[in-house]
Amino acid sequence: MTETATLGLYGLGTMGSALALNILDNGFGLYVSNRSSDAVADFLKEAETDGLAEKLTGADSLEEMVNAMPSPRAIILMVPSGKPVDSTIETLIPLLKQGDTIIDAGNSDYRDTRSRTKTVEDAGLTYIGMGVSGGEEGARNGPSIMVGGTPEAWDAVRPVIEAIAADFEGAPCADHLGPDGAGHFVKTVHNGIEYADMQMIAETYGLMRYGRGQSPADIGKVFEGWDKGRLQSYLVEITGKVLQATDTETGEPAVDVILDAAGQKGTGRWTAIEAIRLGQSANVIEGAVAARAWSAEGDARKTGEEIFGGDRSEVALSDEDLEAALLVGRIVAYAQGFRILAAASDEFDWNIDHARAAEVWRAGCIIRSALLDDIASAFRGDLPKGQLIFADSFVPLIREALPALRRVVGAAVAAGHAIPALSSALAFIDTMQTARGTTDVVQAQRDFFGMHGFVRLDGRENQHGPWWE
Ligand code: 6PG
Repeated sequence: MTETATLGLYGLGTMGSALALNILDNGFGLYVSNRSSDAVADFLKEAETDGLAEKLTGADSLEEMVNAMPSPRAIILMVPSGKPVDSTIETLIPLLKQGDTIIDAGNSDYRDTRSRTKTVEDAGLTYIGMGVSGGEEGARNGPSIMVGGTPEAWDAVRPVIEAIAADFEGAPCADHLGPDGAGHFVKTVHNGIEYADMQMIAETYGLMRYGRGQSPADIGKVFEGWDKGRLQSYLVEITGKVLQATDTETGEPAVDVILDAAGQKGTGRWTAIEAIRLGQSANVIEGAVAARAWSAEGDARKTGEEIFGGDRSEVALSDEDLEAALLVGRIVAYAQGFRILAAASDEFDWNIDHARAAEVWRAGCIIRSALLDDIASAFRGDLPKGQLIFADSFVPLIREALPALRRVVGAAVAAGHAIPALSSALAFIDTMQTARGTTDVVQAQRDFFGMHGFVRLDGRENQHGPWWE
């Protein structure tokens, strides 16, 4: 049996501190350190106040922390992704010895995780790339945790990871999902779905606000109601709250004082990039990434409004149609996320268990929703062509809700409301329900200008058209 490791945590920012308190709260001993030692002193005080300092040891430097820890040791890195992870690993390698593990718990690019795994393993140590979702609240009270690494590495940290994770009906929302970069890849896809869901919610809000003329608070109430039904989810819940909040300075609705330019640290964008790299297209996620990018061009949009008029006219859409449209859009976003997971899993021989990934997302993470349990069951059953939209549990739902998505997209397009994500969801479903599409013409064009050849309907390959005869 693998020995359970002594735990250290390096990086006491907001997320690091929250995760450290969570570990202590679950009764585990913990060593902590930070680049600046002031944060260590502050954290020790905070833990003391919370009555959690008994099993806590602070150290002024990474070296001091590592040297104080009994072996085998597992060091959790809570440092910003990118260069800080590499330089911390560089510092750590000479300080550690065989049996010790480095755990990167940030939002790292899975390709970096793959190469870091190799570097660390070449030095005779163990590496875990661990995706953690749930923001500060999740880190403190139970995040969703996606682990990549060897099964032995997982065994050594499993008790603590399962204890600190969120639980869904008694089952921990944490699991070992594959080797090296698999955990960070699953987290990246999670964030891609997060972007898509957030964008579709925002588009739905836009139709209600600018197409039906409702106030944010009224719309917030509708979202609050939806959160009790088939759209039940963390993101719909917080949107209901956000829209009903009032700015304390102006007394205006809180959303009305916020500049409409969405930030992004990049993981949603990575998902879209990876999808394309893997020969997929997650167009709903791409639509969401596009919306964030275009949102940054506020001046250009202002000019555009002056030039083209920027008319957004009324839409006559019912709450029921909007709810159903959002539901189909959400299913498509998940479906596209899981297609990317499947493609990456094949490419890297990760053997990711889709049902487990869905189960790990059922609580603690940002995209948790009532759909995930059904998604997990769908992956456990027979899923035609690996497409979630063909799952027995989703087919009746999509059949019933698709006309609503069509009405919503149609009305939005006719009235001049930009809905890049919702319209992408409809384009995906319409494409996937068309046995004979239009890329025969694309093939003909390719053959015409480049002699690229095409497959005839009878199966003969590398055929050419009569264009040059
Ligand atoms: C989570 C989130 C988190 C992410 C933020 C911000 O699962 O807890 O995905 O990891 O960093 O949501 O992401 P953006 O800045 O890219 O929107």
